[in-house]
Amino acid sequence: MRQTGSYEVSTTLGEAVRAFVPHPLPPRQPALSPAGFESANRVAEMALARLAGVSGLVPSVDWLLYGALRKEALLTSQIEGTQATLVDLFDEEAGFAVGNADDVEEVSNYLRAFRRVQDNLRDPAGLPISVRLLCDAHRLLLAGVRGSGQQPGELRRSQNWIGGPRPGKAVFVPPPAERVPELLADVERFIHAGEQNDLPPLVRIALVHAQFETIHPFLDGNGRIGRLLIAALMEHWQLLPEPLLYLSAYLKQHQSMYYQLLSGIRTQGDWESWIAFFLDGVATAAGEAERSIVAIATLVNNDRRRLLAAPKATSASYRLFEALPLMPRFTVEHARQKLDTTFPTANAAVGLLAELGIVSELTGQKKNRSYGYQAYIDLLTR
Ligand SMILES: Nc1ncnc2c1ncn2[C@@H]1O[C@H](COP(=O)(O)OP(=O)(O)O)[C@@H](O)[C@H]1O
Ligand SMILES: [Mg+2]
Repeated sequence: MRQTGSYEVSTTLGEAVRAFVPHPLPPRQPALSPAGFESANRVAEMALARLAGVSGLVPSVDWLLYGALRKEALLTSQIEGTQATLVDLFDEEAGFAVGNADDVEEVSNYLRAFRRVQDNLRDPAGLPISVRLLCDAHRLLLAGVRGSGQQPGELRRSQNWIGGPRPGKAVFVPPPAERVPELLADVERFIHAGEQNDLPPLVRIALVHAQFETIHPFLDGNGRIGRLLIAALMEHWQLLPEPLLYLSAYLKQHQSMYYQLLSGIRTQGDWESWIAFFLDGVATAAGEAERSIVAIATLVNNDRRRLLAAPKATSASYRLFEALPLMPRFTVEHARQKLDTTFPTANAAVGLLAELGIVSELTGQKKNRSYGYQAYIDLLTR
């Protein structure tokens, strides 16, 4: 059996525990055999290429990114127990009251953290993928009420454990805190060595994610930052030009398998099963995202055709329609701002879309009416 790390005795809460210190990437003795991942890797890469291609079906990729980014943000947070829905997020962004503000804040924080990483990687003068950048992202992720006690932006300084009431009964005890910086530096080196490792980029991403979870460098937020790293590397290694994939849907659906396979790397030396699962997840999630894009494009094209055929269509109603995919829930005032027009003009544009059944009123009230592009929301949430 392959050894993927060694154990060190570490003390926490007065208990001596065996902490796992992973060997640096890539797997060795034996090294990964290409025969084990080649065909699954090809299928996953193809699925990503098709996903990238299908985004040309709509006038602006921003339409698709709006939903895809928010789905990933929501699902990765849900894996960690956040109770919020996509509609909560849309409502929060529209300034409507939401009941579970702390949960929604966590999801918004993820979006901020992801944007920070993406901005840096896209900017030639920005930070590369590095411990510093991940700490920056972590600070944004854990900003606010819930995360503030978890040392936002800082690597942990104490021993942690996963699963179980106390360290001695834990499913897994990550490396001692003083080993974390050098272990992360190893991961950084592996990332920047890129193709020199002779492994395809998706396989490298699978390795990096699992290694990151094994190191568990933060007190909290390790799952979300580790999955953020997947999305960032997909773009960085040019597997997908825009973050249209929401892999967390697959990870959430197979959550216990996901955790089990991460454990298996330590306990069975089994990198291969984790890599196979990850590649299958990428292919599955990419196929799902592709189908969702086709459905959205079909809906929006049909609705646009109906609007343009309506005798009462105006340029304001048309411009409002084109803005809907980026503001699926809105008020007349939002429409007015978006169109940069008068209230009566915006009101008439909203009225026409409502008459055509494209948007519907949500409150049933005469005042403070709000609207939603429900068919589109249904596609995103299905
Ligand atoms: N047995 C395990 N071995 C290694 N990593 C694990 C194991 N079980 C769960 N994980 C990882 O730990 C994450 C949870 O860590 P946590 O710091 O609480 O992250 P977050 O706050 O984002 O939830 C999971 O999403 C998963 O990626
Ligand atoms: Mg957590």
